[in-house]
Amino acid sequence: MIWIGIGLESGMGLSHLGGMTGPWAPDSWQQRTAAQQPSYPDAAHLRSALRQLSRLPPLVTSWEIESLRRQLAEAARGERFLLQGGDCSESFEDCESAVITAKLKILLQMSLVLVQGGKRRVIRVGRFAGQYAKPRSSDLETREGVSLPAYRGDMINRMGFTVEDRMPNPDLLLRGYERAALTINFIRALIDGGFADLHHPEYWDLGFVQKSPLASEYMRRVESIGESLRFMETLTGTSLGDSSRVDFFTSHEGLHLLYEQSQTRQVPRRRGWYNLAAHFPWIGNRTRQIDGAHVEYFRGIQNPIAVKIGGGVSPDEVVALCEVLDPGHEPGRLTLIHRFGAASVERVLPPIVDAMRRAGRSVLWCCDPMHGNTEVTETGVKTRRFERILEELEKSYRILREGGAHLGGVHFELTGDNVTECTGGACGLTDADLVRDYRTQVDPRLNYEQALEMALLLARLMAQQAPGKPAI
Ligand code: PEP
Ligand code: CO
Repeated sequence: MIWIGIGLESGMGLSHLGGMTGPWAPDSWQQRTAAQQPSYPDAAHLRSALRQLSRLPPLVTSWEIESLRRQLAEAARGERFLLQGGDCSESFEDCESAVITAKLKILLQMSLVLVQGGKRRVIRVGRFAGQYAKPRSSDLETREGVSLPAYRGDMINRMGFTVEDRMPNPDLLLRGYERAALTINFIRALIDGGFADLHHPEYWDLGFVQKSPLASEYMRRVESIGESLRFMETLTGTSLGDSSRVDFFTSHEGLHLLYEQSQTRQVPRRRGWYNLAAHFPWIGNRTRQIDGAHVEYFRGIQNPIAVKIGGGVSPDEVVALCEVLDPGHEPGRLTLIHRFGAASVERVLPPIVDAMRRAGRSVLWCCDPMHGNTEVTETGVKTRRFERILEELEKSYRILREGGAHLGGVHFELTGDNVTECTGGACGLTDADLVRDYRTQVDPRLNYEQALEMALLLARLMAQQAPGKPAI
């Protein structure tokens, strides 16, 4: 059995930062406790898979990463807005043309809606092309008296409930990398080729809009997007689909540290080490221990990074994380993705914003309104309510403004298909509808209609506060 520790989730002691800022190397995290790592039965097999991974060409480039960092710095200054979204857990099965196209389409459509409302450029970041490893609340899953390792994402093991399916398999790391490459290749091709759907908002699937009391406002917003696009195209003689105009970036939770380490490379003429498996990796809420392996790994890479903060995080802990992860106060380096839930955000977020201000810390604040609002229905189905998601966004928007900061981004779990996993919204899904098309492997996602409606409502919120500057 190879050493891959299952760490303590509660060990977030802060007593001092001493020892957290010593020499760094791509493998220095191995001296720390790494939470949420699988146990592989065959060390030689794992070593061979990692060796192969470390020789494969990278998925992204350092100049794309540097460009994203500059854009995130602008978002932190209020000049752009970050839209990050995709599956909770990507599946290998869904690595197919229609699914990828639908996900890209909804993110691009949402971004146009947000540009229209917020009058700010939008940074589009997919939670895809590598979102294959999941943290779990328990190492084991028990069904009818049988306990097997929990499903940890397609890159680690399989959903089926057999010993063979659940055994972590190093070959899946390679399969995951290959699927991430296929996905990113197709996305680049779609974007380079021009994404025709975008040009005609009148062809968007907007049937659900009619069911909303805000129908006429929604239609006005969408029409205004169509007019602006046509105006811009006439003015510039180019189309919005041109690659030079639409950037698209990838992100995933940097959970499986041996995998991330195998993608950590040096590039000619630049200092330091880059994770070249994604532009924008993040540390999950369950692995953000200040003295843990994930924080150690992330502090040394050059990419812009994010940390999810939720649950019982304290203001001091957040400031300490910033000190370790962004000692140089580099613009664009650090994004805090807060996910406290609509019921808690008013109690928990203000003291954190305050502590950050007092510590002279400036970050990009991004709200994930999904993970603090997960519920289980009476029949045991995991879901999230549209109204609660929106409520957390609205509250966060206000809290940050009142604290002298601003909401600079949003992080959604969503899909481009019309699944039935979250309830509410103009499409009127109820608990009873959840059985109809519930497909997610881990957490419930907004469907196409809910995601577009969420963007319309967020745009409305942003329009009320917009600085009045034109955006492209
Ligand atoms: C996730 O983003 O799917 C996730 C597990 O979130 P968090 O780390 O915020 O719990
Ligand atoms: Co999730």
